[in-house]
Amino acid sequence: MRDIRSLRDYACWLHYDPLKKESWDKYQGQFETIQVDGDGPLVEAIEEELQRGIGGLLGTTPRLLPQGEGGPQGAAVQVIRALDAEWTLGEEGYQLEVQEEEGSLRVVITSPGERGCLYGTFAFLRLLQVGEIGGGLQVTDSPKNDLRMINHWDNLDGSVERGYAGRSIFFEDNQLVSDLDRIRDYARLLASVGINSVAVNNVNVHAAETQLIASRIDMAETLANIFRAYGIRLFLSVNYASTLEFGLDTADPLDERVRTWWKNQVKLVYQRIPDLGGFLVKADSENRPGPFTYGRTQADGANMLGEALESFGGVLIWRCFVYNCHQDWRDTKTDRARAAYDYFKPLDGQFRHNVILQIKNGPMDFQVREPVSPLFGAMEDTNQILELQITQEYTGQQRHLCYLVPQWKEILDFDTYAQGPGSTVATVVSSGMAAVVNVGNDPNWTGHTLAQANLYGYARLAWDPSLSAEQITREWITLTFGPCTEVLATLSEMLLTSWEIYENYTTPLGIGWMCNPNHHYGPNVDGYEYSKWGTYHKANNQAIGVDRTVGNGTGFTGQYHPENAALYESMETCPEELLLFFHRVPYTYQLKTGKTLLQHIYDSHFLGVEQVEGLLASWRSLEGRVNEATFGHVLARLEEQLDHAKEWRDVINTYFYRISGIGDIHNRTIYA
Ligand code: GCU
Repeated sequence: MRDIRSLRDYACWLHYDPLKKESWDKYQGQFETIQVDGDGPLVEAIEEELQRGIGGLLGTTPRLLPQGEGGPQGAAVQVIRALDAEWTLGEEGYQLEVQEEEGSLRVVITSPGERGCLYGTFAFLRLLQVGEIGGGLQVTDSPKNDLRMINHWDNLDGSVERGYAGRSIFFEDNQLVSDLDRIRDYARLLASVGINSVAVNNVNVHAAETQLIASRIDMAETLANIFRAYGIRLFLSVNYASTLEFGLDTADPLDERVRTWWKNQVKLVYQRIPDLGGFLVKADSENRPGPFTYGRTQADGANMLGEALESFGGVLIWRCFVYNCHQDWRDTKTDRARAAYDYFKPLDGQFRHNVILQIKNGPMDFQVREPVSPLFGAMEDTNQILELQITQEYTGQQRHLCYLVPQWKEILDFDTYAQGPGSTVATVVSSGMAAVVNVGNDPNWTGHTLAQANLYGYARLAWDPSLSAEQITREWITLTFGPCTEVLATLSEMLLTSWEIYENYTTPLGIGWMCNPNHHYGPNVDGYEYSKWGTYHKANNQAIGVDRTVGNGTGFTGQYHPENAALYESMETCPEELLLFFHRVPYTYQLKTGKTLLQHIYDSHFLGVEQVEGLLASWRSLEGRVNEATFGHVLARLEEQLDHAKEWRDVINTYFYRISGIGDIHNRTIYA
């Protein structure tokens, strides 16, 4: 078997292929010496990266100079730990300066923190690849979010919940995998884009995983050691009711025995992993236990764990994905969209300072289109982070191309009006961002090679939410495929339009679901219609959608600040892409385009399939310009996507034709 590391797509955006002629000539003979302040694993990681990066790009073997050597000028690339009193960029910020003297370039990367030095190093290598390193260049940068987190939904048996790229890269058969080097490669990949925290196990914590804080702590310790070398803190998902598995008869957060048990357990954990980031908890959610069982609030539960973690500097991240998953579909009063706000908003100000609420981007569950959760900007006195889903559960499961950066940009730029105009989600989630990752043990990490762009893009946005989708896309393509203008132009267009294309041939106007139950792949309009999950479209022969207005519906629109509440309340002003999320709309309703709702559904589904044909043609035009194996792999996925898009189109169109009895004005094929 070939070593996985020799496969091109394994390297993701860290190829360090030899530079193309122009840059090669420009940089030949430069960067031959390296010097890095300090010692320890992180410093070694920096040295290794510089040697690997410069070595790969310029075909040389730069020399590592011991500290103090190199004369007054120092090395050609110097990484300096400096504690400057004037420094305002924090431990993770860095400054990068390039000086030029008689044709020699000298790069100085400075930061007071080891992580800042590491991030500066990766930034230097990135800029070198795109040919932007030159005399006089000065870059200062620092992350806009403190917490830049990845959540794994990996189980100890090696399965990955909602994983579409193979099995876990951490666990197999309740042990750590044998290839720990791959985990190190992963840590490096994450650090290269500024990720600083990772929760390694599924939020649905079962008996085996509970032992990660007890008898299996050595597994967690090994992982923490690997991630630490790249400046990444380990988090563990824990079962809220762990005490029940360790002999207590209660998990009541106000019970002293429970509180003491957690304090002792946390102490044991910190003896082994002194820099553990903390715990991540899914409680009272989808049949997971929680404080509600004991008549306590979410704040009681979170604070109990927060208190146990506090003296070790640990953080407790508590998810807000709390709703009734045993709803009766006949019950029209309960609206799942309301749940998180209804449970959490009244608790604002009651959470400890080391408790952070993790809120999914939308009020439901990672659909292709949802409004932003009204909880953002609703809890001024509570730490909040945004939770996104990189793994493409409802967006094509890494078999379809669906680049989510444009979606995430819309979310981050959404104005909550919490403190007046300009209170975007990016500004209210001041504690940071987390995302469920799309990585598994497939050779290319993400199943679909182009899905690597989602991982890259998420991390870059977590670092700086103000980066544009275009810039991130350009960076990723250039780093992954090299500097080729055709590839850049074609692939940018493919990526940047793919989310909307996916939306066109799947679920219309914010309605969501309509997929097969459980695995969530492929169309099934009524798949969740009569189930307990609270995700209904309520289509009949006249109309579709749920009225969530204050005037006439579930009152969900009232959870937003007045500006947004008013916007969503009226069918006329509601953004059309969300129309069916907020309103119940007759098929004959005329949209702003002049089309009826039903005609829009037909048209967008026909269009979506044509657009996938366009994606295929675009990709085919790149044959010979991208690596052959990657070309073939992506081509096969796009062909599958096209078949599948047709399936979506025909199932959805047929369903609405049959139920409404109204045909397509263009008489295209709909299966009567
Ligand atoms: C979705 C997903 C589950 C997951 C849950 C969560 O509902 O389908 O697999 O456990 O989200 O976020 O906790």
